[in-house]
Amino acid sequence: MIPLQRHKQRRQQLAERVSGPILLLGNGTRARNLPMTPLPFRQDSTFLYFTGCERPHAAALLHDGRFTLYLPEPAPDDALWHGHTDDLQALCARYGADEAVPVARLEQDVQSLPLRVLAVPDEARNRWASQLVGHALQFGRDHGDPELADAVIALRRTKDADEIAEMRQAASITEKAFLATMRATQPGSHERGLWTLFEAVLRMHDGVPGYDTILTQSGEVLHNNDHSAPLQDGRLVLLDGGGELMRSGYGVDITRTWPVSGRFEGRQRAAYEAVLESQRVAIAACTVGREYRSVHDAACTVLAQFLVDEGLVRGERDGILERGTHALFFPHGVGHHLGLDVHDLENFGDRPAYPPGVPRPEPFGTRYLRLNLPLEAGWVVTVEPGFYVVPAILQDPELLALHGSALNTDAIDRWQGFGGIRIEDDVLVTETGPDVLTSVPKAADAILEIVGSGPTAEALLCGS
Ligand code: GLY
Ligand code: MN
Ligand code: MN
Repeated sequence: MIPLQRHKQRRQQLAERVSGPILLLGNGTRARNLPMTPLPFRQDSTFLYFTGCERPHAAALLHDGRFTLYLPEPAPDDALWHGHTDDLQALCARYGADEAVPVARLEQDVQSLPLRVLAVPDEARNRWASQLVGHALQFGRDHGDPELADAVIALRRTKDADEIAEMRQAASITEKAFLATMRATQPGSHERGLWTLFEAVLRMHDGVPGYDTILTQSGEVLHNNDHSAPLQDGRLVLLDGGGELMRSGYGVDITRTWPVSGRFEGRQRAAYEAVLESQRVAIAACTVGREYRSVHDAACTVLAQFLVDEGLVRGERDGILERGTHALFFPHGVGHHLGLDVHDLENFGDRPAYPPGVPRPEPFGTRYLRLNLPLEAGWVVTVEPGFYVVPAILQDPELLALHGSALNTDAIDRWQGFGGIRIEDDVLVTETGPDVLTSVPKAADAILEIVGSGPTAEALLCGS
């Protein structure tokens, strides 16, 4: 849990950077068909960061050193439907506010204030905020108030000790979930069972998935949320999952890949070792002042050599790297910021991740590079190289026109149906070097010992 004192310190730091009254908006619930059956609710991360308040339809006014929390008033029949509800006084104490008042009072309170407010992704909340400030707020680019956006980014991007403790806790429960899932993997079992088991273990430890869990034997589909296939001997399971803590919202983002049968077959082990080595060199490169782009390049260098060694591409490693042919097998960026959101701060577009005025690169591969700044102490970033055999990429006419002559189609044919391997960990950048927050086993032999060593998910969860 993040202590109240830390939230207070963050609000003070924000006030030091930005003058004037600041209105922070929490998320509202959205009805599925009726308000009483809402879609799953998650608080806005910036709101959570400065207030610790996880309740829907809240707002906070930071003005003259005071923190006023605006909350919906309990309804008369709340006790009937939801049990005891704390009154505003109790909620004021819980969140360390100077005052907690009904949200209905907000419009009148801010009427004559030169309010500063950030646009939010929720359009309904945005329309309301626009009315309050008297001009249209547009989500995207400057997010309503570029100076305020930059102050929030600067604070949230550098993690404090309490945040790191929360992320280590999220890493610990996620490791339990990974180990359970690896142990339960056996041919004849089912992706759906592993996916359910993974999320069940998170929930058993007061966690929830911080994003839609990717569990698939078709890892070449990068964000594959389909879990409908039986587990087959010879295939690889890719699990990209991260628990976030129910109370604080901090989470992790981890990927492991392992063989269904507990044995690597054919060239699977060689590919696995290449991805692992590319991740090792990329993690080692996560030092203060190092351009994150060069962390990406470090991973690419190892993967390009693998492509040459396997005969998947023709030519020398450095020529392959220069022309970007390796990106056909590693099409995404090596990672991103992590914190209260899995792609932390990306609701601010590229502002937290690219220098002002520097657009994303256009070439295939680097266009998905989500971070392109020198690393700073206190940042947490993911490092997640991969190797994928993606038919849609290897048959793409535009890419073939550029890279076709460097591709060895006979060799590629032999790799069809391979799927994908990704290995992902979360790294705290420190003055003394990279500190890896996540420690799910990843050495090939260590993984093979674990896979299949326990009952299946079906046996554990259904007794069959
Ligand atoms: N879990 C999504 C990602 O790794 O970016
Ligand atoms: Mn990631
Ligand atoms: Mn991931």
